[in-house]
Amino acid sequence: MAGNTPLQRHWWQDALIYQVYVRSFADSTGDGIGDIEGIRSRLDHLDSLGIDAIWLNPCYPSPQQDHGYDVADYFGIHDEYGTLADFDALLADAEQHNIKILMDLVPSHCSNEHEWFQAALLAEPGSAERARFYFRDGKGDGNEPPNNWRAAFGGSAWTRVNDRDDDGQWYLGTFTPHQPDFDHTHVDVKQHFADIFEFWFDRGVAGFRVDAVAPTGKHPDLPDQPPVGADVGILDITWVNPYTVFRPEGHDVWREFRSTLESYELRHPGRDLMMVAEAYAVRRPELVKEFTQPDQFHQMFSFDLMLSPWEKGSIELALRDPFEILNSTGVAPAWTLNNHDIQRIVTRLGKADAHLPESWTNNNLALSGAAIDLELGARRSRAMTALIFALPGSLYLYQGEELGLPEVLDIPADYREDPIFHLTDGAEVGRDGCRIPLPWNTDVSTSFGFSKPAADGSVGEPWLPQPAGWGAYALATAEDDDTSMLELYRTASDARAEFAIVQPLRAEVLDLGHDLVGVRRGGLVIVVNATMQPVAVDLEHPELSIARPVFSSEPNEMHTPGVIPANSTVWFAS
Ligand code: GLC
Repeated sequence: MAGNTPLQRHWWQDALIYQVYVRSFADSTGDGIGDIEGIRSRLDHLDSLGIDAIWLNPCYPSPQQDHGYDVADYFGIHDEYGTLADFDALLADAEQHNIKILMDLVPSHCSNEHEWFQAALLAEPGSAERARFYFRDGKGDGNEPPNNWRAAFGGSAWTRVNDRDDDGQWYLGTFTPHQPDFDHTHVDVKQHFADIFEFWFDRGVAGFRVDAVAPTGKHPDLPDQPPVGADVGILDITWVNPYTVFRPEGHDVWREFRSTLESYELRHPGRDLMMVAEAYAVRRPELVKEFTQPDQFHQMFSFDLMLSPWEKGSIELALRDPFEILNSTGVAPAWTLNNHDIQRIVTRLGKADAHLPESWTNNNLALSGAAIDLELGARRSRAMTALIFALPGSLYLYQGEELGLPEVLDIPADYREDPIFHLTDGAEVGRDGCRIPLPWNTDVSTSFGFSKPAADGSVGEPWLPQPAGWGAYALATAEDDDTSMLELYRTASDARAEFAIVQPLRAEVLDLGHDLVGVRRGGLVIVVNATMQPVAVDLEHPELSIARPVFSSEPNEMHTPGVIPANSTVWFAS
């Protein structure tokens, strides 16, 4: 596949995909909660970014203990978000814009309100109902959890069932007690997911972002986790548990999923369906290769750049593995700089010496250490954006990054909703700060255009509070400013179509002999200056001698030919 011309590519190999966090995108009913109809009303904005697809965060019926990642019913739409009819209308309208829809599939666990789990609670130990999950007797007299596993969001991974006298079994929830893990070796669970694929593909979705791939599949004996070093943070213990993370058993699940997907394609010629894996395999290219074998995922997120500090060596490292995989196997990376779990990039890179932890759950970063300079962060994120828009592979944008939204760090404790905050007793701030409802205009009475008033004219408080100055980032404000982040995203999208997509799906890191990061993709050379000073490129360098600058993250600063402004990215084309 490597070196394919655009025509031979699958749409998802180099797509621009926009992640909609439904709850915070646009509210069409005035209740302060985003919904499907709100998305439908804002398709023009998504179109203006030139996107190919929307990935919807989970919008299935859910008690919202982890904002949709606790699914109570995989075959419906959460009532606060609308109905299946609304969803179908969104699909149809999106299709008019040539925009596909990807759903978020949560296979590792469901909600404790899922009917199967409710039935399991009522059923006997050893029953068929319990076998769909991990119910086990406690250790010793039954009062100790079956093993020492920790939950990803704090506390033990085991919860005891206390509502029966004769019982007292425990169940496993890798994330929270509200999210019991499925046992994917059970035939019902396999069939359930096959039915889910069929149901959403029949409606017309183009694929799935598959959630929490790493902990799906367990060692069959559920042995105790070996002791971890004192340097492993409370939220990282799960991720170093060899018996529940990146298990060989997981691959059986992905093979089943892939064969279900392909059997659907065979029965429906013309559909080009995909699955992208969410797993943090940063600097572990062997894992990415395992998961993207032809009988498993089509793509896997490359979070390396998202977790990289703004520094030449780290950026190069973050590019090398994905390039090597692409060049050797043809599997194109799914690049991403932000998502609903991670502190927003403007804030992350706004620290002079931002050294980021490899853990995605540690959002406390910005609360400690050096002060945050949002202007610097915005400038660096422009440069990162200009870089990823040139790269081979798909780009996943997270809503609000095109507005340059910073992380909101000062949400009062009473308003925080993330279970990470609550289960760690506030020791970890959690992820609410990147999930604040979007500002569309400067009208305070409609929560900056986030909410459309209800029929009676009322507007409810947004589900997470917006900062007073949020209007400065609003879409309407950005539309009037040709130096805005929005303008960068729109022009980068156009430039990508003109200069990058036409290049082969291959790339390599160049040695430009400077303080600069260089990438070559066919006839395109991308140069990143991650330093605080302008740096001159050697225009006689063999890679650049026939090239001219065609795109820059700081278009107004391209005065001196061959000088890359501080904290910026320039594309050269031959
Ligand atoms: C994934 C999701 C995250 C969720 C977790 C549990 O990492 O991105 O938001 O909390 O899985 O489903």
